[in-house]
Amino acid sequence: MEDVLLEGGYVRKLWIGEAKTYADHLLRLDPDSRHRRFGGAVSNDFIRRHADKARGFNVVIYGFFLDGVLRGACELHIDHPMFRGEAEAAFSIERDWQSHGIGSVLLERMLLTARNRGVRKLRMYCLAENERMQQLARKFDAELSFDFGNVVGDVDPPRSTALSMMREWAADSYSVASAIFDAQSRLLRTA
Ligand SMILES: CC(C)(COP(=O)(O)OP(=O)(O)OC[C@H]1O[C@@H](n2cnc3c(N)ncnc32)[C@H](O)[C@@H]1OP(=O)(O)O)[C@@H](O)C(=O)NCCC(=O)NCCS
Repeated sequence: MEDVLLEGGYVRKLWIGEAKTYADHLLRLDPDSRHRRFGGAVSNDFIRRHADKARGFNVVIYGFFLDGVLRGACELHIDHPMFRGEAEAAFSIERDWQSHGIGSVLLERMLLTARNRGVRKLRMYCLAENERMQQLARKFDAELSFDFGNVVGDVDPPRSTALSMMREWAADSYSVASAIFDAQSRLLRTA
């Protein structure tokens, strides 16, 4: 986390209208990361459609930004209300930014959000050979139970509390302030 902050990056939720920003990030993934993110080979068109559809009340995307560019993301899809309490999450970090602690920060933020949305079971599909993702999940083994044989992770985030709601709200407010500060700094640099 310190690594991320020291380099001037910050994490915030993606806003409505940032589908192209999200698509551009996913399209920048190297072939191996793209394969791991989507669990197989997918075309550029598939990615554009995917990013375009990743919106609505049941979707939350956290992004890691550096110098105004989205370099990493975690996408949370909360299932239909009929299956209330279940959700699916997927991660994408561009290669140059992998192993800098960004996935850990995103997973932490996403677990808080999942908890506050009443998610009791979180699925994360991960290829069996994806050791980095498995290591990342193990860091949260108090909240996650993984069965890598089935390459599906079950998360049991604790129930939401007033404090966990406050934590998400405070993190969101801080992120908005960081985004504004970052945009102003870049404007000043180019002026
Ligand atoms: C998997 C992914 C999300 C992990 O995020 P990350 O930012 O690279 O991971 P972090 O830096 O937070 O590291 C997480 C843990 O993995 C460990 N790790 C880092 N590189 C590793 C490697 N090559 N092999 C094994 N473990 C590794 C770290 O040491 C860390 O554990 P620690 O804090 O106990 O030391 C990211 O690499 C990624 O997006 N990869 C491509 C897409 C993908 O695989 N998505 C997952 C399926 S949805």
